[in-house]
Amino acid sequence: MTAYPNVFSPIEIGGTILRNRIAHAAILTRFVTDGRATDRLINYHSNRARGGAGMIVTEPVAMIGSNKDPGRLRAYDDAEMDSLRRLAEVVESEDCRLLGQVQDPGRGRHEVGRNDAAIGVSPLPDDLSWTVPHVLQVRDIDRVIGEWASGCRRLRDAGFSGVELSAGHGHLFHQFLSPRSNRREDDYGGDLEGRTRFLRELIAAIRAECGRPFIIGAKLPADDGVDGSIDMIEAAAIAAKLAATGEVDYWTFAWGAHANSLWTHLPNAYGERAPYLAAIAELASVAPGIPVGALGYITDPNEAEQAIESGLAQFVFLGRPLITDPAWPEKARTGREADIRYCVSCNTCWRSIIDGSRLECDNNPRVAEPDEAFGKPRPAAQSKRVVVVGAGVAGLEAAWVAAARGHDVTVLGASDEPGGKTRLHAELPGGENLSSIYDYQYLAGKKHGVRFELGVSAGLDTVLDRDPETVILATGSRMRAPDLIPHEFIEARLIEDLRSFIVPFIGRTAQEDGRVVLIDRDHTEMTYAAAEVLAQNFANVAIVTPRERIASDCALVNRQQIYQRLYDRGIEILTALEPVSLDDLEDGRLKLANVWSGVEAWLEDIVAITYSTAREPNDQLLEPLQADGIEVLTVGDCHAPRSLLASTRQGYQIGKAI
Ligand SMILES: Cc1cc2nc3c(=O)[nH]c(=O)nc-3n(C[C@H](O)[C@H](O)[C@H](O)COP(=O)(O)O)c2cc1C
Repeated sequence: MTAYPNVFSPIEIGGTILRNRIAHAAILTRFVTDGRATDRLINYHSNRARGGAGMIVTEPVAMIGSNKDPGRLRAYDDAEMDSLRRLAEVVESEDCRLLGQVQDPGRGRHEVGRNDAAIGVSPLPDDLSWTVPHVLQVRDIDRVIGEWASGCRRLRDAGFSGVELSAGHGHLFHQFLSPRSNRREDDYGGDLEGRTRFLRELIAAIRAECGRPFIIGAKLPADDGVDGSIDMIEAAAIAAKLAATGEVDYWTFAWGAHANSLWTHLPNAYGERAPYLAAIAELASVAPGIPVGALGYITDPNEAEQAIESGLAQFVFLGRPLITDPAWPEKARTGREADIRYCVSCNTCWRSIIDGSRLECDNNPRVAEPDEAFGKPRPAAQSKRVVVVGAGVAGLEAAWVAAARGHDVTVLGASDEPGGKTRLHAELPGGENLSSIYDYQYLAGKKHGVRFELGVSAGLDTVLDRDPETVILATGSRMRAPDLIPHEFIEARLIEDLRSFIVPFIGRTAQEDGRVVLIDRDHTEMTYAAAEVLAQNFANVAIVTPRERIASDCALVNRQQIYQRLYDRGIEILTALEPVSLDDLEDGRLKLANVWSGVEAWLEDIVAITYSTAREPNDQLLEPLQADGIEVLTVGDCHAPRSLLASTRQGYQIGKAI
């Protein structure tokens, strides 16, 4: 008996039975090389099928000859059928239905810079990259529809159960639907009839080519957040028109477009959970017979159960949560919710694929390993006494993995609670989900017999007293004060680093007079979350950075949201500027200079300065321990200041290696 009877009941979609109501939303992985599924891609999907998903939608498959992106699976000719068959076989053999995604980016491009190969609807620029596409003529449209239909047939022949048309997020199909991007005066533009014609013809062609049962799903635009484009009323009208084809077997709806609203397709902890559920149900109500998948920031099995039990959706899509834990479904079904590694909605995954590397996750260091879903760390050849100094995420990851391998592990943590600096971030706006990382690690450590000695400020003797054979130094880092700030100021705590300065303001809304200056040489998420807390406590907050913009170490989708929130809160963003003199600080004035021209500017009314800067490792114990002949490994920031992603990954690797 499961606690989620609705989630774990079968459903029929387009004449095909799914074993449960959990679908893996399409995720670009960058695990495709030369148009072929790599072992990594096979591992990725087979683990998610084994982990219990009822259906998996792949990343977009190349089906038209003009899209020869080597990073896409190929279905535009018969050459890669073996690769497609192999993928279908590993997924379908686990009683999980596999669907290929049908999509072309059109003029849409996330990176700065034009895409010369783009095809599109009208000669208008993409709102993000300003790419102007080559416009498809009517005869091109006939051709590409034929190519897509043939591509879908190849997927069917390879063993796929269906396809999903991706018409949200501002890609080509969306560009046809939107009155903002579609200014055609032929049959494929103009009114609703014209703008939906392309998709209606595509759906009809796929059905004619693939027959039934073959699932045709649709990811349609909801409010895309762009003026003159698609709002909820237009989205409902589009949905009704496509439903009238009678060929859409399921649907879901996505927010955002290729514009400043792109981030809205990835909701996170700054807002409520499952924020789009009611609106998705509203859009789907135009054709109640079509099963609708809930989508967007559903991370917990209870949320999934609720979505279905309430009748708002018939099944749920999980995108990021299944990147973090492929066995989410099976763990939920069998009452092992505490064993789930939960998505923390940091969007590091999105950043990893957009930056051109491969899919990675802050809270899953094992994405696409062969035994990712249910594998256990391999036992160590010989058990050792291991002391981990530091209870941040790097140290905790190393500790639980080492203990799971049979080592005798003690963790010494300076704070009373585990989590290190990630714990501080978790207390800031938008950070709450981060606790899932260290909560999981701590519980896993306890389960595998790690001894936690927290609230212990470990010096050399404290460590040596535990008689370690191996020490893992995970003692983090400290922010390096800008050279301009005199040492006496730091000593007297007149000017503090952001991580110390912010603590008394968390949970307060004081609105004190004056301006706080935040010197930003960090550009990660936490700095801006802290800036928001400062804005709740001071009349003015100014972020000063020497770079040409802020948040450059964040995913584009996060950066957009950061800008939105900072501007909404009236926080000043001052770029290409460095503080150059503190001489007038007593009068509340700070002298800045432009980093290129040297032209000076003044900030007035200053009541405090804080800095968020590159960090330096707290590795003071390294040499003394080595001098004692002990094997010492450094991890996380103590090794070299790094991201959360790099910290959990390195912690895992060290735990696995010792
Ligand atoms: C790393 C990443 C890659 C994605 N790739 C695609 C894609 O190729 N096609 C697509 O339609 N959506 C893509 N999405 C959007 C997801 O399918 C989904 O709509 C979104 O993540 C919201 O669901 P979630 O909150 O469960 O993650 C991607 C999202 C992420 C995070």
